[in-house]
Formats: sequence, structure tokens, C-alpha cells
Amino acid sequence: MRLIILGAPGSGKGTQAMFIKKKFHIPQISTGEILRDVIRSNNKNNFKNKIYNDIKKGNLISDNIIIDLVINRLKCSDCINGYLLDGFPRTLSQAHAMKEAGIIIDNILEIYVSDSEIIERIIGRRIHASSGRIYHNKFNPPKIHGRDNITGELLVQRDDDTIEVIKNRLSIYHKQKKILLDYYKNLETFKIFGFPRYHRINGSFSIDQVRNNIFSILIKN
Ligand code: AP5
Repeated sequence: MRLIILGAPGSGKGTQAMFIKKKFHIPQISTGEILRDVIRSNNKNNFKNKIYNDIKKGNLISDNIIIDLVINRLKCSDCINGYLLDGFPRTLSQAHAMKEAGIIIDNILEIYVSDSEIIERIIGRRIHASSGRIYHNKFNPPKIHGRDNITGELLVQRDDDTIEVIKNRLSIYHKQKKILLDYYKNLETFKIFGFPRYHRINGSFSIDQVRNNIFSILIKN
């Protein structure tokens, strides 16, 4: 099972990716998480400050950095039976690089949600930084307010989860999405080798409903 999960920031990709990886036993490769790990690590990485500043402003990280990170990650042995790419590709160059590297995708899941819902989700989101577990003050609250369900550690708000930054992230997303969608629709129409099937999923339902809809698509495909 080789999947891409696409969607606007805050549409629920990370939340659903957690369910998919558990059910289908495939690793979730979240470019956002990989980048946040680079920022948190003590390793000397030449691009660390640049990555930090770009994420904080809601800008995309340059294609060459992201492409290297993902292609190297996909070489790991846990990807042999499949993978779930979460947040990659986001640009046409990333999609082309993936194809050139021979990375095959069977299904693309696009979660769509209105921008107004996105803003409410982003503002109330809290995360457990070291595990990436995702909560929401209203829609998915932890058992104890402000604490991770498993470790009891404090939850935090991401630096890029502010109204100003989310507006920038959304505007970048809408521009890139059209280009990517055209690219994948074209592959599908002409049945080009390795073409993935494209599925649109309404992400406005509850977390459990969205999960069930995704599972039924994946089981059929
Ligand atoms: P990344 O971490 O990938 O952020 P994103 O794409 O902006 O997506 P989010 O993580 O914000 O949202 P999500 O869709 O996972 O939603 P979630 O499940 O958390 O990337 C961060 C940055 O890294 C980018 O801005 C960029 O700078 C850089 N980057 C990453 N990849 C890159 C790439 N390929 N190229 C270049 N740069 C890249 O849900 C959101 C909230 O809603 C949560 O609180 C959740 O509990 C709640 N929720 C989820 N589902 C529902 C539901 N159905 N109903 C109600 N609430 C829900």
C-alpha cells in the first residue's frame, strides 16, 4: 500500500495518517514532522535555521532539501511493504522528482475542508511534540486538559499555528494544489505507468466518520 495524503493545513492529514498507519502497518512519512525533528535535533544541519524561519512564516521549504529528505527516508527497510506520504509532494518539482526516483503511488487521498473550518481547527490544535500526537481543545480533547494521554507531558501549540501564518499557508496551498491536481489527473486520464487513483474525501465530518470513509476506499482499492 503506497499512499499520498494531501489536504490543506489543518484538514486532518496527520490525524487520519495515524489511523491508516496503524491499520495497514505502513510507516507515515510526514515531511512536517521530519522537518520539526531536524529543528529539535542537536545535529549540526546547515539548513536548520532556514527551515525554522520558513516554517515559522508558513513558507515552503526549498524543493531540493525536501526531496533529499524524503527519498532517503523511503530507502529505509520499513518502507518495503508500503508507505504513507503525508504532506509530500506539495509542488510539481517534488512530484516529478518522486516519479524520476521510481517511487510508485497506488492511491492519493485528498481531504477537503473549508478555510473557515481550517482556521478553527488550527487555532485549537495542541500537539505532543516528541511523539507528534495531535489533539484539539474542542474536537479531540486530551483526557486531562493540556496533557498528552500517554505520557502526561505538556501539550504545546505549534509556532506556525497563528491566524497570520495560517492565512499564508492556506494561500500557498490553494495555488500549489491546482497544479498538483492537474498533474495527477493527467496521469490518471492517460493511464501512464504507475498512475495513482485519486480520491477526494470530505474532511468536514467527525474524525471517526472521515476515518471510516478512508478505510472503505482503501479496502476497495
Ligand atoms: P505540516 O506539518 O505538513 O503542516 P500542514 O500541511 O500545514 O498540515 P498540518 O500538520 O497543519 O495539518 P493536518 O492536515 O495534518 O491536520 P491535523 O490532523 O493536525 O508542514 C509544516 C510546514 O513544513 C509547512 O508549512 C512547510 O513550511 C513545511 N513543509 C512540510 N512539507 C513540505 C513540503 N513537502 N515541501 C515544502 N515545505 C514543506 O488536524 C488539525 C486539527 O484539527 C487538530 O487539532 C485535529 O485534532 C483537528 N481535526 C482533525 N480532523 C478533524 C475532524 N474531522 N473534525 C474536527 N477536528 C479535526
